[in-house]
Amino acid sequence: MGYLVEDQRKVTTHRLIQMKQEGKKIAMLTSYDYTTAQIVDNAGMDVILVGDSASNVMAGNVTTLPMTLDQMIYHATAVVRATKRALVVCDMPFGTYQVNPTEGVTNAIKIMQSSSCDALKLEGGVEIIDTVRKILDAGIPVMGHLGLTPQSINKFGTYTVRAKEEAEANKLISDAHALEDAGCFAIVLEKIPASLAARVTAELKIPVIGIGAGGACDGQVLVVTDMLGMSQGFSPKFLRRYADLHSIMTEAIGNYITDVKSCDFPNENEQY
Ligand code: KIV
Repeated sequence: MGYLVEDQRKVTTHRLIQMKQEGKKIAMLTSYDYTTAQIVDNAGMDVILVGDSASNVMAGNVTTLPMTLDQMIYHATAVVRATKRALVVCDMPFGTYQVNPTEGVTNAIKIMQSSSCDALKLEGGVEIIDTVRKILDAGIPVMGHLGLTPQSINKFGTYTVRAKEEAEANKLISDAHALEDAGCFAIVLEKIPASLAARVTAELKIPVIGIGAGGACDGQVLVVTDMLGMSQGFSPKFLRRYADLHSIMTEAIGNYITDVKSCDFPNENEQY
């Protein structure tokens, strides 16, 4: 049972829009497996993102590009099984929605049917707007994602802050409006100047969830393994570590090794 929120009703896209109207911040965190999602949901998370960052933090890839449709479905299915309250959003992986709207909606339906997740997230603005519309027309809620969109990392060539220049900032603003006009229920803004994110947040009626986009956004999202301090060597300015699980786990595992080797484990009470 959640101990941080009183309202135990299942979170819906409609509720998130209400939260923005009421000035209530939205908490979103990634999860990729049953056990973690159960903890995240019980803690009272509003939105769980089955991010294609699974490619990096679960599979050890350098980018998110290798993630496949079936792999995302595997992760999303496990997360949905664990989740009672949070809205579960699944990333559409690279290559499953960029070719054309028909292929996009076919793949979107496959993820929804196979995993029973609540919504999908797609990276991009006007260039994918026909696909976004078609997916929405199929009755599937869509969350947009602008700014540093990791599936385009090879085009950007760098993980630096996006939309610092006027032209890119103006495109981001019109992309955000296009996604809202198409019917998206929320958008993620990743690694852009806080002032730009504040402007988009003020202009849109749908919630804006930031990651490295400042405090004015309607909500925040982080990667669960990063904020729990499990991953090492990834320390962007926006990342706040809420625990040092890397040290805790290393010590616990080291103690287990010592106990096995010294014949301390199992003891008489730990056997049949
Ligand atoms: O895949 C992911 O984890 C994401 C978040 C960083 C927003 O898209």
